[in-house]
Amino acid sequence: MKFFLDTANVDEIRQIAELGILDGVTTNPSLVAKEKREFRKTITEICEIVSGPVSAETVSLDWEGMVREGRELATWAPNIAVKIPLTPDGLRATRVLADEGIKVNVTLIFSLPQGLLAAKAGAAFISPFIGRLDDIGHDGLQLIRDLRQVLATYGLQSEIIAASIRHPMHVVEAAKAGAHIATMPFAVMQALMKHPLTDRGIERFLADWRTLPNYQEAILTPAKV
Ligand code: G3P
Repeated sequence: MKFFLDTANVDEIRQIAELGILDGVTTNPSLVAKEKREFRKTITEICEIVSGPVSAETVSLDWEGMVREGRELATWAPNIAVKIPLTPDGLRATRVLADEGIKVNVTLIFSLPQGLLAAKAGAAFISPFIGRLDDIGHDGLQLIRDLRQVLATYGLQSEIIAASIRHPMHVVEAAKAGAHIATMPFAVMQALMKHPLTDRGIERFLADWRTLPNYQEAILTPAKV
């Protein structure tokens, strides 16, 4: 499973990229606005940090506007994925951009037919929003399972991005449901790495280690023959 960060915060992206575990980034207009920085600068900086796909979203509502913006965004960096909402105009724009070889991430997907339509339109990525579905009493993870099954049945190539992830169990369950990618906030990515038994285990190992004579030099000092 690939791990993406769902943020436009360059410091957060740099921190996770430095660990060598970051496969891509997704942004949306709300996340970009939160950073209060210039859009193009933010996106191009992210694209330099991350070698995988970086989603940048269009804001037009008509397909011609989406195509115009998508073509422009695609010139900003080679790893841009153009994010387009699932509307009839969005589907039309997706088809045009996909035919031009531009990677499209169709977003705001809340149902199986929406996901299927996005895949048929040529989306490289489809983004079902599991947290927002759970918020209204629907089962976001079931949508991931269903999409995975239907895409496989018809040999459709889109990758499923489990989006609107709110907590680590969403990532665990999305992995089991067969999502190709999970995109998550920085805090969720950090939470995935933490376990109290890991911390306790390190403390205990080090306490025992310190009982060795010359423990400070024991690893880096060459053995005397
Ligand atoms: O990737 C989509 C995501 O940004 C939406 O998340 O938490 O606003 O539902 P959320």
